[in-house]
Order: sequence, then structure tokens, then C-alpha cells
Amino acid sequence: MLRPVIHKVHQIAAEVIRSTGKDKPADAALREVLKQVKDLAPFDATEIAKTVFIYYRWHVWLRDERGVEAKMRLALRLDERFRADESFVPFAELREKAVPAWTAEQMEVTDDWLCSLQREPKLWLRLKRGTAGNFARNFSGALVNQTFPDAVHYAGEVDLFKTPEFHAGEFEIQDIASQVVSLLCDPKPGETWWDTCAGEGGKTLHLSDLMQNKGLLWASDRAEWRLLKLKRRTGRAKVFNYRSVHWDGGKKLPMKTKFDGVLVDAPCSGIGTWQRNPQARWTTSANDVSELSAIQKNLLTHVAPSIKPGGKLIFSVCTLTRAESTDVVDAFNASQPDFEPMIFPDIQLGERRVSGVSNITLWPQDLGGNGMFIAGWRRKKS
Ligand SMILES: C[S@@+](CC[C@H](N)C(=O)[O-])C[C@H]1O[C@@H](n2cnc3c(N)ncnc32)[C@H](O)[C@@H]1O
Repeated sequence: MLRPVIHKVHQIAAEVIRSTGKDKPADAALREVLKQVKDLAPFDATEIAKTVFIYYRWHVWLRDERGVEAKMRLALRLDERFRADESFVPFAELREKAVPAWTAEQMEVTDDWLCSLQREPKLWLRLKRGTAGNFARNFSGALVNQTFPDAVHYAGEVDLFKTPEFHAGEFEIQDIASQVVSLLCDPKPGETWWDTCAGEGGKTLHLSDLMQNKGLLWASDRAEWRLLKLKRRTGRAKVFNYRSVHWDGGKKLPMKTKFDGVLVDAPCSGIGTWQRNPQARWTTSANDVSELSAIQKNLLTHVAPSIKPGGKLIFSVCTLTRAESTDVVDAFNASQPDFEPMIFPDIQLGERRVSGVSNITLWPQDLGGNGMFIAGWRRKKS
């Protein structure tokens, strides 16, 4: 009997799924496989990525199917039904199958959050200050966010990485929740800031744009290879007001500077990215949560002395567990009498207006972005 012909996109997606494992996350497998495929249209590459992520979003529902192709077909059918009518999966079933059982002990698991996890994530861009309207006029499928005017939701079909605008550093791919972090830092031109866990520089670039490229911005990370990528990105974005330096997160700080503001965008369990990165639901453990919480508490303690009296300390994590959010805040408050919680300006998060708080939990369903926890303090003046 002839096997049904599987579309090339699905064949490649199946190859990616087969080569994904504990040591090779789906996004790394995707990059590796796509690199080897010749003559792939950009639209096909997007479809392959979507198919792989749909597979992991419906992972537990596929257990009884045999073979990757059959599982993938079922995942695509479930995804199509869910997009037509989200209520077709009862909440109790989502609770049981969409996330591992340990999450309920670590965080508030709501029906809205579970539903958001099964949706296709939105692609967000961050435009250079004040240029989003012009971009949206030139790119069909680009929609400027009503609350955050430099954030653009992009649903078009152009391969953005190949556009002259991208190469000229006019925009970055950056999730809207990550954009909110730098906006809450609210650095001013001429100030001195430190992005302590800068990674590949997503928030460094944003902080620099908010500082209008004026003042000084240190970017550090424990992974040197990430800082190399950051350098490439700063070149493209024409960021001139930064210095990068290696820092292992220890007590010994890499500079003697006192800062107007320090951002600790800490390593975390990443539960806030489970919509975008569904395979991580099945590779992250409760043990990771407690280890990362301890690292986050240490990072905050280590950077605290580098902040000027009156200066700001901002802590952010793209996760939603208590151990990595409110517990970290409580530990810092208890051990650092020189600091007081900083009340953030009022902020509209989708339907929700948040005011008078010094820490914010941003749920994926609020803005259609990642989940994020953000807390702020000021060093007391005297
Ligand atoms: C959430 S990511 C940072 C993302 C980055 N800020 C951005 O916006 O693109 C956390 C970063 O912390 C770094 N990291 C992990 N453990 C660290 C430690 N103990 N000290 C300093 N950096 C650390 C990781 O290499 C990673 O780049």
C-alpha cells in the first residue's frame, strides 16, 4: 500500500522533531535542520517552525499515536480545532495535559493562562523610538500597539531579517513583555546604567534607545559568546553609549562605577515563554525553579552595593513561579534595609490597569506576549 505523500514542510518538521531531545531543544534542532535544506522559501521555513511548535504544544494529547508523522497530523488537527473554538478543550483537560503537574505547586495556574499557552504566539518588533507608525505604513501586517507606541505586532509574510530596515538597525525582534521591562527601568539620557545579565543584548539595545544613546550603559554577562552576539547587534543598531564586560555573577563586580540604575534580567525557569517555547514545558523541573531562585537572590545581593543613593534596581524574570518572583522580593527586602520598593508609574496591560505597585506580574494573556515578573527598588538617599 502506498503511503500518503506528506508535504515537504511536514517531512522537514518531522525531521526536526526526531532530532530534538533533552540536550537539543526544538529551536536548536530547527536551526540545524533548516541550515541543511537548500532552496527553502522563507514562508516554508516559517511553516516548519510553526508545525514543530504546534507538535510540542499538544505533546501530551499525542501519546497514543504511533510515529512522529501521525502525532504531527493529530497536533495540527487539534490546533485547527482550538483556533476555531477554544472551548473545545475543557479547562480540566488543559490543566491535566498542557503543563506538568508540578506547576500547580509553584504558581497560580489559571484557566486564562492555560488557554494562552495553546495559542500561537505573536511576533513582536521593537522599533527605534518614534518610528513605528512609519514602519507600519510600509509593511502590511504590522500593527502598532496602542499602549506601547514603539511595539509592533507583525503578522505579515515578509522575511524581516532580509529587509534593509533590519540591516540598518531600525527594528529588533523583541517580545512586548521584554519591552515593558526597559520601559519600567525608564533610564534617562546622560545617566549611568548597568545591564547585568545582558545576554545577547535585547534589553541593552532598548535601554540605549531610551537613553537616546547618551550617558553610559554597561552590559555584562557570564556567557562570553552571548556578549559577542551583543556586540554585533549594537553595531547594527548604532548603539555607541555602551561598554561590555564579562561578569560571572559573583560578589566581585567587574567595575567600580556607581550606577543610577541597575537591571538584573536574571536567568530563570522561563515558564513565561512556554507558549513560544512549548518543548520547555517537558524539560524544565521544579528543581530548576529552586536552584534559579537561589541564583537570583545572590545576583541582587551582589549588585546592590553598586547603586548610587537614590538609584534604581530593577529585577525581571520571564517566569511566573513564586520562588522566582515574590520570594526573591521578600528575601531582598528582608536583607537590604538600604533599599525601598519603588512604585512604578501606572501602566495599562491590555484590559488591566496597574497602579501603585512596586512589582508586576505580566501574564501572557495580558498583552499577547511572554509572561514576566518585574520588581523595582530605590536605594535610600541617606
Ligand atoms: C534572561 S537571560 C538575559 C536576556 C537579555 N537580558 C535580553 O534581554 O536579551 C539571562 C542571562 O543571564 C546570564 N546568566 C546566567 N547565570 C548568570 C550568572 N550567574 N551571572 C550572570 N549572568 C548569568 C545568561 O547567560 C543569560 O544571558
